[in-house]
Amino acid sequence: MSSAELSVFIRAIGVHTPERKLTNAELSTMVDTSDEWIKTRSGIAERRIAAPGENPSDMGAKAAAKALERAGLTPADVDLLIVATMTPDVPFPSTACLLQAKLGLRRDIPCFDVSAACSGFVYALQVAKDMMRSGAYRRTLVVGAEKLSSVVDWSDRTTCVLFGDGAGAVLLETTPEKNVGLLGNLLGADGNNAELLHCAGGGSAAPATADSLRDGKHFLRMNGKEVFRHAVRVMAESCERVLAKCDVRSEQVAWFIPHQANSRILEAVASQLNVGMDRFPSNLERYGNTSAASIPLALEEAWKDGKIKHGDLVLIVAFGAGLTWGATLLRWHEPPR
Ligand code: ACO
Repeated sequence: MSSAELSVFIRAIGVHTPERKLTNAELSTMVDTSDEWIKTRSGIAERRIAAPGENPSDMGAKAAAKALERAGLTPADVDLLIVATMTPDVPFPSTACLLQAKLGLRRDIPCFDVSAACSGFVYALQVAKDMMRSGAYRRTLVVGAEKLSSVVDWSDRTTCVLFGDGAGAVLLETTPEKNVGLLGNLLGADGNNAELLHCAGGGSAAPATADSLRDGKHFLRMNGKEVFRHAVRVMAESCERVLAKCDVRSEQVAWFIPHQANSRILEAVASQLNVGMDRFPSNLERYGNTSAASIPLALEEAWKDGKIKHGDLVLIVAFGAGLTWGATLLRWHEPPR
């Protein structure tokens, strides 16, 4: 069999979330908001906040270590590391290199970051799959790790209530088996709408200065209404297009695991696809929007809760800053607990 025919599946999954919970009640003491407003508009009740010094590479390393432990493997067994993050520990080197060192991965493997904001995990999965199908890499860690609390303006009630920190990791492996693992995929981007959700300062275009700090240029800014509109349309369309590409009907999909942005976005996507919310598991209430970490966090929870079972078709779909989007249909291979 030629290596081009290899399939790629999720052999194991692991997550890590910070201890500290920030509830809506506590947020209400920081900005002019209320538990009722946040829950009604977003479905979020609390989110996790990383401790000072607890960075995406630390959270990602813990999530990855858990995935390796569940697989009964060691860091030496990993051939490739891809980290999806929009909140890298530092502008350079990559969070992947920092995570490599913390986890003790081999030095003869590629380690790099993928920057696609909330779609980062779906992008990274596809990059990994395409690198692995050639047979060059047998096992890959794909990690989504975020510390959104570091880029959120805690005085801006329109954004600070939505985001949280955390990490999730999958260990991908190749197999000659057919029709398992990552089956089909679609990725897209629209840089013409970059300003709908962005951070204007801190990069090479506008390096940090006393003025940029004073003007809050290092914070995330979002046009919530426009993002909402694009998110619903693009996530529903991406699902439909991937299903058509794979010749699968939505009724055959056991679980939809969307990026956990906002419960109203998820409800609107489910309604457009004509799928009941009982097939859209969500953990938004406890974690908020954790960007690239949100899909592995939701996937792990749905699996641990006994929802996702061996052989199930699972459709993951994401949308984020860029704008970027992506969807992947996969046939679940029961990983070890
Ligand atoms: N508490 C109380 N009131 C608030 C808050 C708050 N936290 N935030 C805004 N408001 C007020 C506004 O000031 C406004 O008041 P006004 O009518 O007096 O001007 C009122 O509530 C309504 O504001 P809207 O912006 O119209 O509220 P909307 O219903 O659009 O909800 C929200 C805002 C939740 C941000 C919504 O637009 C949304 O969910 N957008 C998508 C956001 C998202 O999910 N982004 C991430 C996806 S991509 C990614 O993950 C990177």
